[in-house]
Amino acid sequence: MSSGVRSHTVPQADRVAMTLPRLQEMKENGEPIVMVTAYDFPSATVAEAAGVDLVLVGDSAANVVLGYDRTDLVSMEEMIVLGRAVRRGLKTALMIGDMPMGSYEASDELAITNAQRLIKETGCQAVKLEAGGVSVQRAKAIVAAGIPVMGHLGLTPQTATALGGYKAQGKSAKAAIQMSEDARALQDAGCFAVVFEAVPAEIAATIAARLDIITIGIGAGAATSGQVLVFHDLLGITTGHMAKFVKRYADVHEEMVAAVGRYAAEVRGGSFPGPEHAYAIDEEELAEFRSHVEVEEDAFASAKSWEWEPLA
Ligand code: KIV
Repeated sequence: MSSGVRSHTVPQADRVAMTLPRLQEMKENGEPIVMVTAYDFPSATVAEAAGVDLVLVGDSAANVVLGYDRTDLVSMEEMIVLGRAVRRGLKTALMIGDMPMGSYEASDELAITNAQRLIKETGCQAVKLEAGGVSVQRAKAIVAAGIPVMGHLGLTPQTATALGGYKAQGKSAKAAIQMSEDARALQDAGCFAVVFEAVPAEIAATIAARLDIITIGIGAGAATSGQVLVFHDLLGITTGHMAKFVKRYADVHEEMVAAVGRYAAEVRGGSFPGPEHAYAIDEEELAEFRSHVEVEEDAFASAKSWEWEPLA
């Protein structure tokens, strides 16, 4: 590349569809796994073109694309619409659908039904659910129904209120022990992976080293098998307060505002659209059209003058 920046993407033509055995192999070989969220066709095509391994249709969609102030407000129906759009933009990345709050906690039956809905209606290949406790049993039931499950521990936004807010978890020995036990239980339930969010790096590293399954970190240090970031956060599309673990690789919001501002200025100033944005028409066709319009105008003018003739 002329900029001297090396491309880190594998050419699209050389990429093969990601599978669970390949992911496990990556973990065992120490090859970092790259995961990103996506919520629509454009974000999925960007993730695909960048060659990421895993794409999560996260319930963070609630905040970053739907404008809710909490993730627990997003519904199954909304997740399905978003998931279907993501599916259309992916070719090789393995797609995971996030189960929204209320779609799995109440019973194994509910969890299986909604996991099947996500798989069948969006085309995702695996589902993710949050927390330990009852979620471990739900994960087990979904796995038994033949659907791969990713767990999620640490800061679990669906239950952030119960956790005392959006803050790092596992900061006491007691909490870290519980997290380690939950991770083990999720592994024993058959989960193929677990996400650790906002967890001290040493705790995540120790727990990850004791697990056979894939671990994905977000604010959990560098020792997990892979990393995940929210698409809109890493691109700087979201504005306002960012969690400590977010690294911004671009400032797309600023770019977009500037671009729309330039467009508005050009429309108002008359410089857009220019001749290069207009379609041409054959001279003869144009002349015929214009003479037709003139004849029509004359006929209209004489009809009007007759209409308004004062009554005798
Ligand atoms: O919903 C989401 O985006 C997530 C990731 C942060 C793991 O759960």
